[in-house]
Amino acid sequence: MISTRPFAYPATQSPLACDGVALDALAKKYGTPLYVYSANQILTRLQLFQKAFETIPHLVCYSVKANSALAILKLLDAHGAGFDIVSCGELERILRVNRKAAQRVVFSGVGKTAAEIDLALRSGILIFNVESAGELDLLAERTSKLRKRARIALRVNPDVFAETHPYISTGLREHKFGIDIRQARTVYKTAAKQKYLDPAGVSVHIGSQIRSTDPFGAAAERVAQLVLDLRKDGLPINSVDVGGGLGIEYHSDHTFEPEAKMQQYADALLKALGPIEGLQLLLEPGRFIVAQAGALLTRVLYVKKNGEKTFVVTDAAMNDLIRPALYQAYHDIVPVVRRKGARKKAVDVVGPVCETGDFFARDRELPELKPGELVAILDTGAYGLSLSSNYNSRPRPAEVLVEGKRARLIRRRETIDDLLAAEKM
Ligand code: LLP
Repeated sequence: MISTRPFAYPATQSPLACDGVALDALAKKYGTPLYVYSANQILTRLQLFQKAFETIPHLVCYSVKANSALAILKLLDAHGAGFDIVSCGELERILRVNRKAAQRVVFSGVGKTAAEIDLALRSGILIFNVESAGELDLLAERTSKLRKRARIALRVNPDVFAETHPYISTGLREHKFGIDIRQARTVYKTAAKQKYLDPAGVSVHIGSQIRSTDPFGAAAERVAQLVLDLRKDGLPINSVDVGGGLGIEYHSDHTFEPEAKMQQYADALLKALGPIEGLQLLLEPGRFIVAQAGALLTRVLYVKKNGEKTFVVTDAAMNDLIRPALYQAYHDIVPVVRRKGARKKAVDVVGPVCETGDFFARDRELPELKPGELVAILDTGAYGLSLSSNYNSRPRPAEVLVEGKRARLIRRRETIDDLLAAEKM
């Protein structure tokens, strides 16, 4: 049985720990706000994917946007992961980690620029997921200019509904992503005429934080049909990229079994893609691999009352973790040290930023908190630091990676000088 989170209280009296490393000590050493990740959990989740699909040739291309820390990319690279990137910046990260890993990179994104395409071509990435006819034209132009061949997949929009937050749903015709699956055959024919383009695959991504596995199966069925049609058209399509999007459970009082979820997911995909002979499967998970490996540690600055409401003001804010503000996302919040006799009370946990949307929880029953105490905001390994900003001129947090029983700093806290370095008066 794989535990859902690496964060636990080793004993009743002990502070919260990450794989046994006490978090109050880490906060003391590195300051707060602080992101803490478990290397062990990240690898366990990667291996869950690799095992679930071991019966067919596959590559798990971790979606870099979820958490792009170099140390995490290095860890995943060392364990055979490929990478899903959406920008030059993400590609540069991979190249810094291991130049050879470029061969395991898939390049997605609706707005690739000529410069980004050129860098990807020169680096020798695995495949481009092309999202429009216009991008195909640009790619044809850049490949002939550089005289470099490119393997391509069209990212198709399968028009499948997936229950998730509207901002992170992508698989409907009304969304900006991909090419309408009904037009795909025509676009592939155009692509096949280009000297330097090799149509090799089909890709799809229907959204993020999708908990039911049915929509993945439905999308994969449509993709499988397209692959068979394209083969009839004479195109040697053997690669299918099913994107990312597999959700986790953010509420600890709901049951969540990552192993069972993964099995369901693999069953749905393998069944739908069964008719494709000689299939090479690509997957682009982000959240499922890193979300539950991370927590954001923050210290309570003030506890204040306004009318009936109690506000717990922390030193972390929406610039450090924007998910609650942006998607009304829920994150469990727990005290690092459990104080004996602390009574539960409904509070709003908020940051110091000058926006009413700067909150981590509203009307949440939490054990009474006092200034100076530490809390951990859980399941923040994905889209936490990677979505952070310097709003209100706040330096971004430091990051620590726990490896076995040891913890090390993988990103130092930003300084005000870092923030001002690019500016001129
Ligand atoms: N592949 C593509 C083409 C994507 O656009 C994404 C995520 C992924 C893979 C990885 O999806 P995952 O397995 O992580 O669900 N900031 C939002 C999530 C945005 C997802 C964007 N695309 C959040 O915090 O919930």
